[in-house]
Amino acid sequence: MRAWSPDSWRSKPIIQVPDYPDKAALGEVEAKLATFPPLVFAGEARQLKKALADVAAGNGFLLQGGDCAESFLEHRADNIRDFFRVFLQMAVVLTYAGGSPVVKVGRLAGQFAKPRSSPVEKHGGVELPSYRGDIINGAEFTMEARTPDPRRQLQAYRQAAATLNLVRAFAMGGYADLERVHQWTLGFVKDSPQSHRYQVLADRITETLIFMRACGITSENTPQLRTTNAYTSHEALLLGFEQAMTRLDSTSGDWYATSGHMLWIGDRTRQADNAHVEFCRGIRNPIGLKCGPSLDPDGLLRLIDLLNPKDDAGRLTLICRFGADKIEAHLPKLIRAVRKAGRTVVWSCDPMHGNTINAVSGYKTRPFDRILKEVDLFFDLHRGEGTHAGGIHVEMTGQNVTECTGGANAISEADLSDRYHTHCDPRLNADQALELAFLIAERLKQERAAHIEPSASTAWA
Ligand code: PEP
Ligand code: CO
Repeated sequence: MRAWSPDSWRSKPIIQVPDYPDKAALGEVEAKLATFPPLVFAGEARQLKKALADVAAGNGFLLQGGDCAESFLEHRADNIRDFFRVFLQMAVVLTYAGGSPVVKVGRLAGQFAKPRSSPVEKHGGVELPSYRGDIINGAEFTMEARTPDPRRQLQAYRQAAATLNLVRAFAMGGYADLERVHQWTLGFVKDSPQSHRYQVLADRITETLIFMRACGITSENTPQLRTTNAYTSHEALLLGFEQAMTRLDSTSGDWYATSGHMLWIGDRTRQADNAHVEFCRGIRNPIGLKCGPSLDPDGLLRLIDLLNPKDDAGRLTLICRFGADKIEAHLPKLIRAVRKAGRTVVWSCDPMHGNTINAVSGYKTRPFDRILKEVDLFFDLHRGEGTHAGGIHVEMTGQNVTECTGGANAISEADLSDRYHTHCDPRLNADQALELAFLIAERLKQERAAHIEPSASTAWA
């Protein structure tokens, strides 16, 4: 293996990077960030890797979700709280159905930089640099806002720190109490037009909690019922920022990105010889790799060799994002190649990024039924290959937005303009996110049943 250092990516080809006009200011910001406290600890990243190793082995499920892009403007406690509440509800439903741990990884506290399909945007004869996320420039269509400003990285750091602080407080301070989370879910089930679909599972959880209470297991005497683990993740896109936040861990002597627990490489920046892969191969955090339709089996195996040469379990999560109409043509051959090469990965499904369409009104949207279809096929295909459908990666919010069409409340294309608030891609709203969790729960239950049958007991071996 070639030598690696936190800045070795700088000598590699790179795409999807902003052109900062003020290089001196950029250098000053990066130097300053390098002196700031880490946002997460290496020990936590290792703990996450261990949890993901269990998922890779078939015991557990990865729930990864949050905003497409966090924004400076919407940095409010209620946004974070509402997201976390739905996220916990999803986790409880999935834990119960799967009968195994759910690893909760937010797309938050650092998800600020966005890859773009075009470096420029044109409106009425005016051409400006594209918006690349609040850590880089502003969304407003003016030259001033769109000019990359390095000082935004300092604000992103501070926002990430405050978000993480609140999430840690929610996770540890009583907000995540299992009984309470379940009460919220009962409210959702009662109000849903599809409540009959969810009632049985919700009732079972209620019964289980009553039974546990009768046995003396309550959140007052059992910390596991009132606290939880929650991790953070974001796309490792803005490498100067990531390098500045990368630190040598004194316990292990290894390099860790301390900007978040898990970082992923986007579908647009996963070229084996380029900077993003170079940076990620050297940090020891759990890494996600987005796998889209242009990735072939040989390309994937090459990336696995680079990113996880020692086949360290939990290190690599393959986040598949083909689209409902393409997944059948692409996923099985990747699964077979990985299995044949004897590599250990978590297979996760991002049913969002391959299912984006333009509504007639011009809004970017994602039909809920296509999202569900991709998830369903993901489970079917893994079942067919005898591998574990290990996780889900979604863009979601705790707010009642109208960005994805469909769902139990049947959001139509005409409704999109009501509450279309995203800074980037359309997100599932709170009801759609929970609905998705209930539908995945049905699949996890089937997978569990199949796994318990003696004839299928070697399926995950
Ligand atoms: C994203 O996750 O927001 C994203 C841009 O995804 P992808 O790299 O899969 O296109
Ligand atoms: Co997105």
